[in-house]
Amino acid sequence: MKRKEFLKLSGAGVGSLLIPAAVISVISSGCGKNSGMGNMGGMSGSPVNINEGDFLQALPIPATVGASGALTPQATSATLKGSQVYNVFGYQSGSILGPTFRVSKGADVNINVANNLGEVSNVHWHGLHIPAAMDGYPTNLINAGASFKYNFTVRQRAGLNWYHPHTHMATARQVYKGLAGLFIVNDPEEAALNLPAGEFEIPLVIQDKRLADISLSYNPTMMEIMSGYLGDSILVNGKASPFHEIKSQTYRLRILNGSNARIYNLAFNNNQSFTIIGNDGGLLKSPASVTSILLAPGERLDILADFSAALTGDEIFLVNKLFGGAGTAQGKQEFKIVKFKITQKVNVTFAIPSVLSSVVSLTAAQASRTRNFDISNSGVMMQSRMHRINDKVFDANRIDEAVAANAIEIWQFDNSKGEEPHPMHIHSIDFQVLQRSGGRNGLTASEIGWKDTVLVMPGEIVKVIIPFENNTGKFVFHCHNLEHEDDGMMLQYQLS
Ligand code: C2O
Ligand code: CU
Ligand code: CU
Repeated sequence: MKRKEFLKLSGAGVGSLLIPAAVISVISSGCGKNSGMGNMGGMSGSPVNINEGDFLQALPIPATVGASGALTPQATSATLKGSQVYNVFGYQSGSILGPTFRVSKGADVNINVANNLGEVSNVHWHGLHIPAAMDGYPTNLINAGASFKYNFTVRQRAGLNWYHPHTHMATARQVYKGLAGLFIVNDPEEAALNLPAGEFEIPLVIQDKRLADISLSYNPTMMEIMSGYLGDSILVNGKASPFHEIKSQTYRLRILNGSNARIYNLAFNNNQSFTIIGNDGGLLKSPASVTSILLAPGERLDILADFSAALTGDEIFLVNKLFGGAGTAQGKQEFKIVKFKITQKVNVTFAIPSVLSSVVSLTAAQASRTRNFDISNSGVMMQSRMHRINDKVFDANRIDEAVAANAIEIWQFDNSKGEEPHPMHIHSIDFQVLQRSGGRNGLTASEIGWKDTVLVMPGEIVKVIIPFENNTGKFVFHCHNLEHEDDGMMLQYQLS
């Protein structure tokens, strides 16, 4: 929303406008001490500073399971920081984050979810192209005490996907309190590359949470719905400021930004370069060497980090670097995320293949039509839910876009008048990013290839091209800032 509209609302004339009373009270409390808005620092919210922590806890690696398994969402407790116990949600007792599913392309997956949360939930398999009935539609919920068997065949290429609840208007809280996990697909094209595996392939789920509060309560103010619910500590695989012991060789790091709203500009503290080999939709066509890369909520990265120049005893941190263009709440602080301790000097080299996979690039000329989505949210302040797409909030009973099976379309996300970053995610498909104009102008190294989530910064218009398949049904697309999603920034398309 625009600053002048907010000022208008927060001024003396508020009482005369037709706004629901609840909104007025959020607005006035939003201007109080807990909103950080005392200095009117901007309409995309205020930063929340990270307390780095001590990097003395070992990095947990979630257990890996195959194509069948069980998840039991429940309220439980976990030691997220040092020995401090927190009240969390887990897919099992005693920790946040569920197991990592690792399956081969073609596998039949059977996962029984027994909902012991005491409230409705479901599971969305983010990145998987599976039938609508298995996709965790927001109102397709598992009642408290009930179970549901997710059953589908994995037909897509190798890649790092993930799962989390997609509960209507409660996704943000359920994910924040701990429910998420990884879902890795392997295939022969990937196997032929002989990428670092076993102990040399490390999953890193990066999330921020407010660890000053042992009950992880979730109660965002209006300003926190605008910025997203930013944490004060960074957890990796469910542990705050962890360390991991490594050898001086090349590691494959498979990174998920599982945060509700925080964007990271990932880099190493020694500024060493690293190689991006994959993203949301699997391997890139060819590797790209960078020294930093942005990762928005919902996005994934597959990178090779070469630690062969390090000596025994060296410590190298994955860090967040400053970045601009993301509104007033993000990119303002540099902080460490995870420490790699080199405990063994070895002489193992890994030559990165120059061709990683076959990705056929789509061109604009192949698209049958373009759909435009205004995600700027300029001028919606008069309405009770501020985050919208084309001025609409999610309605399960309304089909927003009717798409023909096997169509190729361009979808354009227009944030040109917006003040907040929006990572836009589409269910059940992968797209290619065609063009970004305004803001960062152009594509980043991780936006070449297949993706399902794309970051649209304030001032940007991003065009993606989508080859819809014939997986017919009703699917959502939304902002993956989970506060924005639950605030209504989600629509649906019907593929038929
Ligand atoms: Cu990861 Cu619709 O979400
Ligand atoms: Cu998804
Ligand atoms: Cu958003």
